[in-house]
Amino acid sequence: MSNFKTISPEDIKANPFHLIGKEWMLVTAEMNGKVNTMTANWGGVGVMWNKDVVFVVIRPSRYTKEFVDHSSTFSLTFFDQSHRNELAYLGSVSGKDENKISKTSLEIIYEDNTPFFKQAKTILLCKKLFAQPYKKESFVDLVIENQIYNGEDYHTLYIAEITKVLISD
Ligand SMILES: Cc1cc2nc3c(=O)[nH]c(=O)nc-3n(C[C@H](O)[C@H](O)[C@H](O)COP(=O)(O)O)c2cc1C
Repeated sequence: MSNFKTISPEDIKANPFHLIGKEWMLVTAEMNGKVNTMTANWGGVGVMWNKDVVFVVIRPSRYTKEFVDHSSTFSLTFFDQSHRNELAYLGSVSGKDENKISKTSLEIIYEDNTPFFKQAKTILLCKKLFAQPYKKESFVDLVIENQIYNGEDYHTLYIAEITKVLISD
């Protein structure tokens, strides 16, 4: 772990709108000794229940959802743009169909029993606090429901405590 240092969530310098929305992230978790990951660019960071938290949304069709549901923790990892194509790949192919991580340059390492990637620049280790599937009747703006879901594959919202922030030296 010598090439990472721990910082406080308040000391994250990056703009979260850019970091998540434009640069994208990997959501990674372990289940029965196996690790899966997927690219995400919807989510956020904030404060809930007096804790520093992340919000991520995962559709039931994603294999990663099984891993996140099974585990009490997951990681969010952010990379420099040299890994952009790998993030695009990990966000278009399912770990159900191929051992996709092995086809990238990314190496899985662990901190606090949570998998993440050695090549990441910023790592958020997250402990699940809350999980709730979105429902049709909860949408105030039905245009979003219609455009994004149209009755199918509603994301589950996860709120998770940021237990550690690591940045590469
Ligand atoms: C830029 C980008 C952002 C994505 N954001 C999300 C997201 O926030 N939530 C989600 O469920 N899927 C998202 N996806 C889709 C998953 O990454 C994709 O379906 C992936 O292949 C799932 O892999 P898995 O089946 O191994 O979990 C995104 C894909 C890309 C390329």
